[in-house]
Parts: sequence; structure tokens; C-alpha cells
Amino acid sequence: MIGVFDSGHGGLTVLRALAARLPDRGFVYLGDHANAPYGERDAEDVYNLTIENIARLFRMDCRLVILACNTAAAVALRRLQRTWLDDAWPGRRVLGVLVPVVEAIVRQPWHIEEPHTGPDAPSETVAIFATRRTVESRAYVGEILKRAPDVLIVQQACPGLVDAIEAGAPQDEIHGLVAGFVSKLLERMQGVLPDVAVLGCTHYGLVAKAFRDALPPGTTLLHQPDLVADSLADYLARHPEFPTDRQEAGRLEFLSTGDPAHVSRVASRFYGAAAAFRTVS
Ligand code: DGL
Repeated sequence: MIGVFDSGHGGLTVLRALAARLPDRGFVYLGDHANAPYGERDAEDVYNLTIENIARLFRMDCRLVILACNTAAAVALRRLQRTWLDDAWPGRRVLGVLVPVVEAIVRQPWHIEEPHTGPDAPSETVAIFATRRTVESRAYVGEILKRAPDVLIVQQACPGLVDAIEAGAPQDEIHGLVAGFVSKLLERMQGVLPDVAVLGCTHYGLVAKAFRDALPPGTTLLHQPDLVADSLADYLARHPEFPTDRQEAGRLEFLSTGDPAHVSRVASRFYGAAAAFRTVS
């Protein structure tokens, strides 16, 4: 089984895309609802919670884990890959959700770090909506500008939005919050409109319609879950050490550190399908 981890409900947007794109695989979803949101926690805290939960999935025999949380990926992924993974869990792999988005914006594969130059060099204006911790990490900004220095990036933190989603807030409240963040970003852009918008928090994908409604009609909304699913399909095709297993095909398990009844209720509202969560052991 492939593990999918998020602080709470947000990674369900990624799980949905992964399950649709890779029907021959099985997935175990783990939400750390007891400790969500991560976006307002300090970086050390996010790191420790992230490795603790990835280890839980490894102990359940997931050899590959998708870190379906932008905050955890922005703050913890490089560090855990450099200092923890190979020593603690040799042969296991953790992939994040930033890389496929950066590749889509800079229009070149991740491993090419030199600036993309020439007539088709990207020069769009990109709006990134994310948690405060992701914005402060400047992970998106650094990785994009290294490869595409002509891109103009404007980030907007959206504090409180993850809490509202986790609490199952009504749609009009969510729409109001999102409209407020979009107008703050547009004010700071002083008349320049974003060509592309990134929902750089997997939770925001659950309320993508609110962003679509609030953004200018000409702004393209990148769909992170589809980009991640395509990227994982490509990775698996290149890595035969993670073979398919017929018994696992199509299997989905939902685990949480929080209250499974509440989590399942909120999940079915935002996920668009029933998701029966169990408490993780
Ligand atoms: N869904 C996560 C993200 O993509 C984390 C949100 C949070 O826990 O604050 O950033």
C-alpha cells in the first residue's frame, strides 16, 4: 500500500486524484487531525509531527509515502530526506506535493536547476495561496525563481481557512473568507492580474470553487492533485522496486489521530464521497 499523509482533511484532494489515476494501487490515508492545523505551528513542531506520522505509515508496511501537505513538504521534506530517512528507514521513500507544481510552472523537470531560458522561458505572474508557515518558508518562491527568474510571484497567507475547513464551516462562511484573501492579494498586486494561481495548501483544494469564484476569470487555477497524480504515475513507472500487488488494487483505508466520527462526517462533506475513518493505533 502507498501511504498518503496530511495534517487533516486536505490530503483527501490528493488521494482522490491518486486513486483515480492509479486504480491498480492501494492507499492508506493518515490525517493528523488531533494536531491540525500545521500551518500556524513552528517549523520544529511541523518537522517532528511529520516524521512521527510518516513512521506510523512505514510501520504499517507502506514503503512509499506521499506527503500530501504543502506545509509539511515545504518545511520538513528536504530535512527528513537528508537527515532521517535513510538512517531510520533505509529503502523507504517520501515524495512531496511541491515538486510537480514547480515543474508545471517552470516547464522543465525538477532535476534541472539552471534557469529555463530562451523564447519559451516562463514569465507569468503567479499567485500562491498557502498557510502562513508555507509562505514564510519561501519554498515555492525559492524553487521557482531558481529555475524561472522572470516569473513574478505573489504569495498570500490564508490564516484561519484550514481551521474553518476542519471544523466543517458552512459554504458561505468559506466563500467570505476566501474572497477576503483573494482581494488582499489583488490589492497588493496593484492592477496586475495573476496569470496562474496555485492553491499551495491541499486543504484549499476542498474549497477550490470558492477560489475560482473569487479570482479573475482569466486566471488559470493549477490543480495540484492532478499534477501530483501524474507525477506519481511517472515515478512508479520508473521505479520497479515499488511493484503493484493485485490484492491491494483499489483498496482505500482512512486513518486519523482525531475523533473518527467527526472526521468522517466532515470528510464526506468536502471529499464528495464517504470516507470511514478509524483511529490510528
Ligand atoms: N493541508 C496542509 C497544507 O497543504 C496543511 C494545512 C494545515 O494543517 O495548516 O499545507
